[in-house]
Amino acid sequence: MTALAAVRGFKDILPDQAGLWRRVEEQARSVAARFGYVELRPPLMEKTELFQRGLGEATDVVEKEMYTMEDRGGERLTLRPEATAGMVRAVLEHNLVEGGRPARLFCLGPMFRYERPQKGRLRQFHQLDVEVFRDPGPLIDAEVVLLLHSFLAELGLGDLQVVVNSLGCASCRPQFRTELISWLTARQENLCPDCRRRLTQNPLRVLDCKNEGCRQATANGPTLSRHLCGPCREHFDGLVAALDLMGLNWVRDHRLVRGLDYYTRTAFEVHSSSLGSQNAVAGGGRYDGLCAQLGGPDVPAVGFAAGLERLVMLLAERHAPAPPGPDYYLAPLCSEALDPGFKLAHQLRARGLSVAADWEVGSLKSRLKRADKLGAAKLIMLGPEELARRETTIRDLAAKEQRALPLDDPGLY
Ligand code: HAM
Repeated sequence: MTALAAVRGFKDILPDQAGLWRRVEEQARSVAARFGYVELRPPLMEKTELFQRGLGEATDVVEKEMYTMEDRGGERLTLRPEATAGMVRAVLEHNLVEGGRPARLFCLGPMFRYERPQKGRLRQFHQLDVEVFRDPGPLIDAEVVLLLHSFLAELGLGDLQVVVNSLGCASCRPQFRTELISWLTARQENLCPDCRRRLTQNPLRVLDCKNEGCRQATANGPTLSRHLCGPCREHFDGLVAALDLMGLNWVRDHRLVRGLDYYTRTAFEVHSSSLGSQNAVAGGGRYDGLCAQLGGPDVPAVGFAAGLERLVMLLAERHAPAPPGPDYYLAPLCSEALDPGFKLAHQLRARGLSVAADWEVGSLKSRLKRADKLGAAKLIMLGPEELARRETTIRDLAAKEQRALPLDDPGLY
């Protein structure tokens, strides 16, 4: 029988990587706390309908990337491909948007998309997701961009560039959509099969297609900026003025439309030269219509998500220092030492010290090697002589000094 392997695109995070993951997650929590965002943990699975209605039927995610199944009761369920729809559902279900103040929320965890796995792109991947509800103004858009920027900068990402655009709103976008469809229809023979299909359903996505033929065909196409209504224009100006005020490096990309249908007005991504690729490490925007679309009140909202895989890879490449080893490695040097050693290790752990041990008798040489490999600060030796004196010998592995301590007084360790 062959041993089973993990599912393609689903990766184990092994102990030597777990420290880096914790570091990225702790950084996310620290920045979120400083900006006043609180954690909401929605479940990993939601009704399929939530994503169909929320993200848009004609998006790549809903069309071809969702992990959908029927449960034993016949209900269609989907592993979340992103967090926003679930966050909105939870916020509405628990009335977190009642009262006057904006709700500032974040969530950290795995997402699932059936994509072609490649370096840093997985089928189970992780995001920091940040969402704010109730505040319609451009300053809150700038605040979430700033939060994201701080998170990435504090992790050591260099040359951060914020790419922004405005996607308009329900009053100005339809007119642009109509113009875009007729402009694209006249050039459809130059578009890839995906874009030809998308043309009428989701024409804005054609502007964002990575296919070189499509990029050339649409290079001089109509842009939304000319069609923006007064309030959308004002909102965009307010956002970029705030980014200027904070000295952030931003550019406008008229073709930035993002891959999910819920965006209105602000869309943004952050790129970094540290990641050496065109792909955004994070993106988001405003989605003022989504709450109402999912059956709730009309609540404006804005947010982003940052993929964590590539951030962890970057830290790993930079040889982040290894996490500290245990305080003690306990070495029973004879079989009579196993029980008292086992008990002492437990007593020390209960006092908050970290103690590594292998419950077998070995030579001093092999134990020293093992303590060294684990990066332990001190070795506790427990052999026949120590047992006879009810003591242990403690060797400081860095200072190479030894002293005796009482076996029965864990408070002295
Ligand atoms: P998204 O652009 O689909 O937006 O994903 C955000 C980030 O998640 C991407 O920039 C990328 O870093 C990461 N990501 C996406 N797919 C994968 C994958 N297969 N493997 C590794 N990383 C991946 C959203 O998810 C929106 N919910 C963002 C948002 C929140 N908008 C408003 N609020």
